[in-house]
Amino acid sequence: MKTAIYPGSFDPVTFGHLDIIERASQVMDHLIVGVLNNNAKSPLFSVEERVKMLREVTAHLPNVEVQSFGGLLVDFAVQSNADVIVRGLRAITDFEYELQMSQTNRKIAPDVDTIFFTTNLKYAYLSSSIVKEVAMYGGSIDEFVPPVIAGYVRQKFEQKRELIK
Ligand code: COA
Repeated sequence: MKTAIYPGSFDPVTFGHLDIIERASQVMDHLIVGVLNNNAKSPLFSVEERVKMLREVTAHLPNVEVQSFGGLLVDFAVQSNADVIVRGLRAITDFEYELQMSQTNRKIAPDVDTIFFTTNLKYAYLSSSIVKEVAMYGGSIDEFVPPVIAGYVRQKFEQKRELIK
């Protein structure tokens, strides 16, 4: 049984992330989406909200589980009995960072390997920050995230606007 971890901040989950999740879930027996509990990025959504959103949009994938984690990714991988870490490569600009991260992770935990999926070209430009920026200025994010996530993002910015009124 092969278990993989797909880690990220997912603030919020996008179609690009979902594409990787769906493809990785087809080649793995069990895929754990690991949501980083990291305040360094000042997330828009709490880790609990991000986990809930991911569970909603992956509910159709029976071998996908969503969990939050803190600390080192490799520690989470070892605790979860994961064999591999899954990462997506969007463009050549991702490569240097991903190479360094996978080599560091392998140095710390030699039994945990990293495999890369090339992101669908349709979503190569996408990031969670772009989604938030477009939504913050009232633009449509329907091309970037599933409808249920677009609703949560809009709601979050409405709440923020109410707070500063
Ligand atoms: N489609 C759309 N967007 C994507 C994407 C895809 N396929 N792949 C990545 N992105 C986006 C992400 O949404 C993110 O956007 P943002 O910066 O606007 O939030 C951006 O690209 C960067 O993604 P990523 O590199 O996955 O960053 P992350 O913050 O989501 O995740 C961790 C980074 C969690 C994997 C990494 O910080 C980690 O492992 N942390 C734990 C601590 C640790 O072990 N550190 C040592 C590592 S050597």
